[in-house]
Amino acid sequence: MTALPMTESNAGGDPGDDFVIDQGWDVYSEQDHAIWRSLMARQSKLLPGRACHEYLEGFERLDIAAGGIPDFARLSDALDKATGWRIVAVPGLVPDDVFFRHLAGRRFPATNWIRRPEQMDYLQEPDVFHDVMGHVPMLTNPIFADYLQAYGRGGLKALRLGALPKLARLYWYSVEFGLIQTQAGLRIYGSGIVSSRTESVYCLESPKPRRVAFDLMRIMRTDYRIDDLQDIYFVIDGFEQLFEATRPDFMPYYEQLSREADIAPGELVAGDKLVEIE
Ligand SMILES: [Fe+2]
Repeated sequence: MTALPMTESNAGGDPGDDFVIDQGWDVYSEQDHAIWRSLMARQSKLLPGRACHEYLEGFERLDIAAGGIPDFARLSDALDKATGWRIVAVPGLVPDDVFFRHLAGRRFPATNWIRRPEQMDYLQEPDVFHDVMGHVPMLTNPIFADYLQAYGRGGLKALRLGALPKLARLYWYSVEFGLIQTQAGLRIYGSGIVSSRTESVYCLESPKPRRVAFDLMRIMRTDYRIDDLQDIYFVIDGFEQLFEATRPDFMPYYEQLSREADIAPGELVAGDKLVEIE
C-alpha cells in the first residue's frame, strides 16, 4: 500500500517514517465541514437500533458529531481518558508495518482528507469520515481497544511470517465488517458498515448476504471483496469472544491454513452456523 497524493485539505507537510502529519484542522474549508455534517446527519438517523450499544456510547461520549470534522487533538484527549488510545493524522493508506506499529502503540492512524460532494456514497480509499466516525467510537470500549492493539502486534508478526493475507481477513471481517449478536438482536460494530448508508441497512435486513457465527480459522480462509457490498458477515456473540479467540499464538494456525483452500466470499462450508435475521 502506498500513501495517497496530498490533497488541498492536507496542509501538514511531508510525513516522516511514521507517516504522521499535522491534521491541518485550521485549513479545512466550510465545504469540508459541510460534507462531514451531511454524512453525519444521515448516519445518525440510521444507526440507533442498528449499531451496537458500545459503538453508540462511544459516539456520544466523544461527541463526534459536534459541528464538523473533529479536531484530532480534542478527540485524542477524550479517547485517551477512556482507553489510552490516541488518533494520529496520516495522509492516506500507510504501509502495513507502519499501520501495525501505530496500532501496537495504541495510536489509530486516521486519514485527514474528506471526500468530495460527488463521492458521498462511494469511495475507494478511506477518508476522515470513515476513519473517525467509523473506527474511533469503538476504541472507547476497553476490550475492543485491547483487541485492536493485539491485532497490531499480530500484524507485525504476520508480516515476518509472510501470513498477512490470512490475518488481514480477520481485520476485514471484524474491525471493518463485523456484526454482533445481542439480546436486542443483531447489531453492527464494523466501521465499514457504520460509515456506509447502504451497508448499514443491507447487512441487517437484506436476505442476500450470509451471516455466519464467528469462527477464526474459517474467517482467515475467506476471501473478501472491496468493491461492493459484502456477501458474508461473521457474527460474534461478544467482544470477549473476539479477544479470547485471537489471544493464542497464530503460528500453528498459519501452518494449518497454508494447507487449506481459500473460501469464496459467498460460499458456505461444512460447520458454518448460520445466523438468521427476524
Ligand atoms: Fe477502515
